Amino acid sequence: AAAEKGGYATFMEKEINDQPHAVADTLLGRTDASGRLVLDELRISEEQLKAVDRITIVACGTAAYAGMTAKYAIEHWTRIPVEVALAHEFRYCDPIVNERTLVVSISQSGETMDTLMAVKHARDLGALTISICNTHGSTIPRESDAVLYTHAGPEIAVASTKAFLAQITASYILGLYLAQLRGGSFADDAQAVMKELAEVPGKIETLLGRMGRVKEIAKFMADTRSVLFLGRHVGYPVAMEGALKLKELAYIHAEGFAAGELKHGPIALIEPGQPVFVIVPSPTSEHGLHGKVVSNIQEIRARGARTLVIAEEGDESVVPFADEVISVPATSQLLAPLLTVVPLQVFALWLSTAKGLDVDQPRNLAKSVTVE
Ligand code: G6P
Repeated sequence: AAAEKGGYATFMEKEINDQPHAVADTLLGRTDASGRLVLDELRISEEQLKAVDRITIVACGTAAYAGMTAKYAIEHWTRIPVEVALAHEFRYCDPIVNERTLVVSISQSGETMDTLMAVKHARDLGALTISICNTHGSTIPRESDAVLYTHAGPEIAVASTKAFLAQITASYILGLYLAQLRGGSFADDAQAVMKELAEVPGKIETLLGRMGRVKEIAKFMADTRSVLFLGRHVGYPVAMEGALKLKELAYIHAEGFAAGELKHGPIALIEPGQPVFVIVPSPTSEHGLHGKVVSNIQEIRARGARTLVIAEEGDESVVPFADEVISVPATSQLLAPLLTVVPLQVFALWLSTAKGLDVDQPRNLAKSVTVE
């Protein structure tokens, strides 16, 4: 069993450390001889895909947060409206779907019943379906018109880590593929983004090498009863994923918020000593988002919050207001989740371990939920 875990004590620790490969392998072999991006399986015509005027992403759990991240990227690159629906809600909400709707499912296992039923429902309504999946030969890709496989390798720990990074990577490739197909203004950027994605595995490796302090913080915090997470733009789904990891693994009340929503309610939760992770956008982000999130840190710090700040390396502006700064390598705004989520996974892993819990098999959860 130790060999299976590659020398790590748990599958989760191994899988977190596998993430550079999960991303790198998912990027492999994506272009044809003429340098155009391609899908792994395509059972409909590219003409049909070209006509798509609306995208709905269906998924559950961590995969749904990958979908929320993908929405920002796919809309930016294709200008096609993207909606993200929890698969179990989608089926029963009388969804607006027709032949020009592309329903993208995201599933590690390819067997999640809620997601499978959403795909079948979409197909019955005439939609085109694409599966982003980690498991060859599983049901959801077989039931879909096209497939883009993630290559994270088998994920054993119940709480998803490397599959999440691979899902974000694959959904971005899909966005770039659609942009190329439509020949929009971002079609030419596809190669530049693919090049930048290719640099991400090395950056994750660097980041993983710096997680000693996060492990220490997690150990100190074993008695914590509530942790909040704030993020904005693509940092928002990362905040929710960070909270989900903590619920799943450490059984701690945790919640992720959009940082802009703070003043509309969640700030009332801040009392002295409340730990809050804040995912800070790069100082180079558009629309001045960086400054807005730094102001949020000041606001909660002034009310006594213990601020655990994830920021781009070299970003000194957060230092005066942070109890801890966790630096991540620089990358463009849309790609940042592939880095910023890593410390949150590591934090949940070590906090759970400090509490003496079973990291790989949290209570009440199943790796793949094959019932509705
Ligand atoms: C279960 C797992 C989660 C996972 C979700 C979706 O709830 O515990 O970790 O995110 O299912 O699984 P899928 O295989 O469809 O990605």
